[in-house]
Amino acid sequence: MAADNAAHSKHAHIATGVGVDTPADTVVHAVDDIEEYDNRLPNWWLLTFYATIIFSVGYFFHYQMLGGENTISAYEREMQPVWAAEAARLRAAGAVTPQMLLALARDQSIVSQGRTLFATNCVSCHAANGGGGIGPNLTDNAWIHGGAPDRIYRTISNGVTNKGMVAWGPQLGAERVQAITAFVLTMRNTNVAGGRAPQGTPE
Ligand code: HEC
Repeated sequence: MAADNAAHSKHAHIATGVGVDTPADTVVHAVDDIEEYDNRLPNWWLLTFYATIIFSVGYFFHYQMLGGENTISAYEREMQPVWAAEAARLRAAGAVTPQMLLALARDQSIVSQGRTLFATNCVSCHAANGGGGIGPNLTDNAWIHGGAPDRIYRTISNGVTNKGMVAWGPQLGAERVQAITAFVLTMRNTNVAGGRAPQGTPE
């Protein structure tokens, strides 16, 4: 094979007719009369190539190390006014539906209101991160009274008084219970570390 290649590289280069071959070209491989040259790459090509390497370093640090905003969170931020308007519209319609509660769960200001109310009223039994204690874990996929938005709303509003879960509707009012439900919906299936073992039916 080596002798074969050597024989080939001694051949005069086949003229291409477009002035590509020069006597300075070095043939590094030649197989079946196809010759690979070791030409210096054009400067514009090398500059572009080095620029992508430098760019990738900045890109890596911005997004992987310094927490630069990813496309999902940028999308969620840009959609906030739309989602908030949808939540307000469904709230004004009056009916507490799963669709309405899910819309509230995408409205950041309602979720943060719910987070504050949860910290005041619920953490003593469900833990600050929702992992549970006296009450069940709210971050797993198992639910004693149902994990659908309207079921969770009903449990929080009516309570399970014979089991030690307070009826919050009369105490806090419907709007606050809706906000807390919105926050609880954001905790579903996040499975916080150190949470209580699942109770009820996985959904
Ligand atoms: C005094 C303790 C206590 C407080 C405070 C409390 N809970 Fe509970 N919660 C419980 C207990 C106990 C249960 C389980 C009831 C059962 O076994 O049926 C429960 C159940 C639940 C469930 C149903 C979970 C499931 O698996 O279906 C939800 C949702 C819930 N609580 C939300 C809340 C929210 C929101 C608050 C605050 C507004 C709150 N709880 C405050 C004790 C508490």
